Amino acid sequence: MNSRERFLAACWSKPLDRPPVWMMRQAGRYLPEYRSIRAKRSFLEMCKTPELAAEVTMQPIRRFGMDAAIIFSDILIVPEAMGISISYEEGGPRLDPVISTRADLERLRVPADGDLQFTCEALRLVRNQLGGTTALLGFAGAPFTLASYMLESGSPRELIATKSLQYSNPDLLKGLLDRLADSVAWFLEKQVAAGADAVQIFDTWAGNLSPSDYREFALPSAARVIARVRKTGVPVILYINGVAGVLEAASTSGATVMGIDWRMDLTAADGVVGDRAGLQGNLDPAMLFAPVSRIRNEVRRVHSALSRRSGHIFNLGHGILPSTPLEGAAAFIDAVRELD
Ligand code: CP3
Repeated sequence: MNSRERFLAACWSKPLDRPPVWMMRQAGRYLPEYRSIRAKRSFLEMCKTPELAAEVTMQPIRRFGMDAAIIFSDILIVPEAMGISISYEEGGPRLDPVISTRADLERLRVPADGDLQFTCEALRLVRNQLGGTTALLGFAGAPFTLASYMLESGSPRELIATKSLQYSNPDLLKGLLDRLADSVAWFLEKQVAAGADAVQIFDTWAGNLSPSDYREFALPSAARVIARVRKTGVPVILYINGVAGVLEAASTSGATVMGIDWRMDLTAADGVVGDRAGLQGNLDPAMLFAPVSRIRNEVRRVHSALSRRSGHIFNLGHGILPSTPLEGAAAFIDAVRELD
């Protein structure tokens, strides 16, 4: 089995030799080769220059040999294509203008042919370089998480503005979620056409909702996106940070695989999700700072606890931290590759 076959088998919960492995945010600042390009270019310039995005997508694959590459980009590229200006500052991203009225919503455009070409071109470049043996992932933010960034001006944290709107004007929030769902579904379809083998949808902030609010707002908009992308035939991974409280509802979204953060045992997640979806995760990103022997033991422990399941993709429970030691990342990938 090559890496691409292994990754797709795991997505569809088919039998395989060992679980595939990759890491969320695997192209990024913990890599010296990323930092040396980033020293000369802005982050957005890297996202929008297909050759640079392709190069940093390939960097972790060359160094560690993960089973899947994820295209280098950012979830906030979609709001930008809808007419919002974005900038990345010390305290996090900033979005302008903040959406707060129906008129603001009406001004947002749904991207169409000609938009976001740089990501599709980067996917085509990486697809050629990978030569069909390593899986290639596209991605986008889920409507609820993108709405949170647009309503909070870039720093969701407590989601005060998002939840206030949810209580005072639920129809306006739903209108925004609808427009985002159309935009995200369109973009993911384009990424599949450009060569993505699978896509991941990041609903990073949805774990902050009560289960009933999750069902009313975040779930229907994510499910709409998933239904459209599933028609292309590729598997869809749905990641939610702090997923435990909404996992049961989220596992009815139509996603092929559920991403699980490290605050929940994968065996407990298995009990909730059952055969509705595969599981991806869920090492604590801080575990990569542990001694190599500790990392290896943890990989074996998780693997044996899940031995009944074929649909497991090894990953971290959230993105790799910028200060992660290279030895920790290498130990994690190697430990999974040595499983049988
Ligand atoms: O996984 C990968 O390697 C692909 C690249 C990727 C990035 N962002 C690159 C990035 C992916 C999949 C994302 C997704 C993303 N972006 C999410 C969802 C995943 C998650 O972590 O929950 C979110 C919430 C964002 C928004 C975002 N982008 C924030 C909040 C920030 C600033 C915080 C930070 O980590 O610096 C970014 C910037 C960003 N996105 C960087 C990278 C490599 C750092 C930019 C730099 O080089 O300075």
